[in-house]
Amino acid sequence: MAMKEKLVKALDVQIQAEFQSAYLYLSMASWFTENSLQGFAHWMRIQWHEETMHATKLYDFVHGRGASVTLLALDAPDRKFKNALEVFESVRTHEMAITARINELYELAVNEKDLPLQIVLQWFINEQVEEESQVIEIIEHLKMVGSDGPAIYLLDRQMASRPSMTARAME
Ligand SMILES: [Fe+2]
Repeated sequence: MAMKEKLVKALDVQIQAEFQSAYLYLSMASWFTENSLQGFAHWMRIQWHEETMHATKLYDFVHGRGASVTLLALDAPDRKFKNALEVFESVRTHEMAITARINELYELAVNEKDLPLQIVLQWFINEQVEEESQVIEIIEHLKMVGSDGPAIYLLDRQMASRPSMTARAME
């Protein structure tokens, strides 16, 4: 079934949003590197990679449906943050906005009766639940240890252990 033009356009915008997320997380990774928190920087690098995979998953889906992808322009991401907590508060705000977009896209797929798109978006809906809960947990930990005290060093060690999730992101 050919995809409706309206859906192809909406997916171009979602692909842009996923790449924009990737770009934001890479910017956050550089902030952490410049602030000597390599574990957090590592976590953000994985996040950057995951977002790139999200964009690519949709990109492949559009091509798989025989439609063409139009890559849209990206904005320069934020790069000024006060501390680690502020970075993760921004991540939470950002991911909540992404969740709202995905939910809207799903509603559109339902209204347009596009079943394959509904199925691929269900994967994204689950992914958003996981993303948000992970970020909330990190925010809670940052609130416990504080962003400026010596305990941030221990939390940084823990962030360094996030496994590379290439395989999982490809599921
Ligand atoms: Fe994403």
